[in-house]
Amino acid sequence: MTDKELFKLALKAKDKAYAPFSKFAVGAALLSEDGEVFLGVNVENSSYGATICAERSAFVQAVSKGVRAFSKIAVATSQGEAWPCGICRQFMKEFCDDSFEIISGSDEEHLVTHTLLELLPLGFKLDDECNQIKGKV
Ligand code: THU
Repeated sequence: MTDKELFKLALKAKDKAYAPFSKFAVGAALLSEDGEVFLGVNVENSSYGATICAERSAFVQAVSKGVRAFSKIAVATSQGEAWPCGICRQFMKEFCDDSFEIISGSDEEHLVTHTLLELLPLGFKLDDECNQIKGKV
């Protein structure tokens, strides 16, 4: 799947965002290594801190279906190009390699891509032994 196709899915997903407080709607389209797409939107809450971002929503959808290997994610917002928050970057770090790609843009003709390494250099992750366990649990 091309970046443009994935971004268009994120754009469409954005329409389902629940963002009555910020009015900042976000959609995410996460591509698994198997070629499956998982969509997510931001879901806000009256208790603001309980809000979940679109990117994490997409990861939760995928992991809940047993999918844990990913190649890229596209992020679309109601206000143009935007990049994942720190918590979402850490969430990605749990399941993705440094080469995982994050795509955003003001529209489908102006996409920008960054790797997870670029967005989260020196990120925290448990060691290889723990990662092997993670694959089984
Ligand atoms: N938000 C996301 O869903 N993803 C991002 O990458 C940045 C921020 C959401 C959280 C909140 O609902 C709204 O955007 C404003 O922060």
